[in-house]
Amino acid sequence: MAALTVRALGLEFRNPVVLASGPAGFGLELAESFDLAKVGALTTKTVTLEPRSGNPQPRLVDAPCGVLNSIGLQNPGCDAFRAELLPRIRAFPTKRIVSIAGRSPEELGTLAARLSGEPGVDALEVNLSCPNVRGETVAEDPQSVRAFVHAARSASTVPLLAKLPGEGKYLDLVEAALSAGADGVALINALRGMRIHTETGLPLLDRQAGGLCGPAIFPIALQRVFEARKAFPETVIVGTGGVSDLRGALEMLCAGADLIGVGFAVMADPDAVFRLQGELDEWLTAHGISNVKELRGAAHRGGIHVR
Ligand SMILES: Cc1cc2nc3c(=O)[nH]c(=O)nc-3n(C[C@H](O)[C@H](O)[C@H](O)COP(=O)(O)O)c2cc1C
Repeated sequence: MAALTVRALGLEFRNPVVLASGPAGFGLELAESFDLAKVGALTTKTVTLEPRSGNPQPRLVDAPCGVLNSIGLQNPGCDAFRAELLPRIRAFPTKRIVSIAGRSPEELGTLAARLSGEPGVDALEVNLSCPNVRGETVAEDPQSVRAFVHAARSASTVPLLAKLPGEGKYLDLVEAALSAGADGVALINALRGMRIHTETGLPLLDRQAGGLCGPAIFPIALQRVFEARKAFPETVIVGTGGVSDLRGALEMLCAGADLIGVGFAVMADPDAVFRLQGELDEWLTAHGISNVKELRGAAHRGGIHVR
């Protein structure tokens, strides 16, 4: 058996597979059918200070090799999350990363302060890259990223991730997040895309654009993670975007991810996601690699060295 444990953010993850924010919701439905001990962490759906009802329907539209989502940060708000969801999430046999977002640095700071001391919140992930909320695409601008991350950092004591987009000058945004105190980054969020109804000639989504997720974005996410690892050799990276199978997981690790975020695949084929750690173990063992950390960033170091 290979060692799958990943030590990152001052935490010990049982394996590198992390359920990315959104598709897994708050983990409650998944916990009924799957053993959450088989993933390294659950990232919750993004929580905001006040409840949000999200965008009008439709919120999910088919796309080749993926889906366009336009959920719009629907969530019950911080108070209901703390009172009703967190006590159940706390009992999960995996690490819990709570995703948060705010309309302003002040709001984000308030939210981070309310959640940071709560038992069961192992880390916070600041969602700075939701493509589906009007006026909140803060991650296009390093100065805003710095202000939001600084606010969350000052208000919390738990490890802090910044969830950033894979568009625009994303390396500047990574730099901004790290310099403002983030302990690592989750790269990438869904990429903006759209579809048009051929009978009406109109965009299918109310907000025209939605976030493209799934295998369609995998090569883009992989390249962003590779570039981020090259530019920031030491930082923690949760490589997210289009991973749906063992091959994708292996590529993400070789590109430089410490942890692998899995989103769309949890909706498309949850069995495959919960099988990943076993497949990873088998692959490493078959290749004579005793520890998964030997793969991290292999693409930057002359490839995989099989003994
Ligand atoms: C239905 C759906 C809801 C999502 N909701 C969130 C969210 O609340 N917060 C967030 O940071 N990312 C959210 N995402 C983005 C994912 O966490 C992930 O970054 C993105 O989908 C790319 O990974 P994937 O191709 O594995 O899905 C959502 C994605 C989907 C498909």
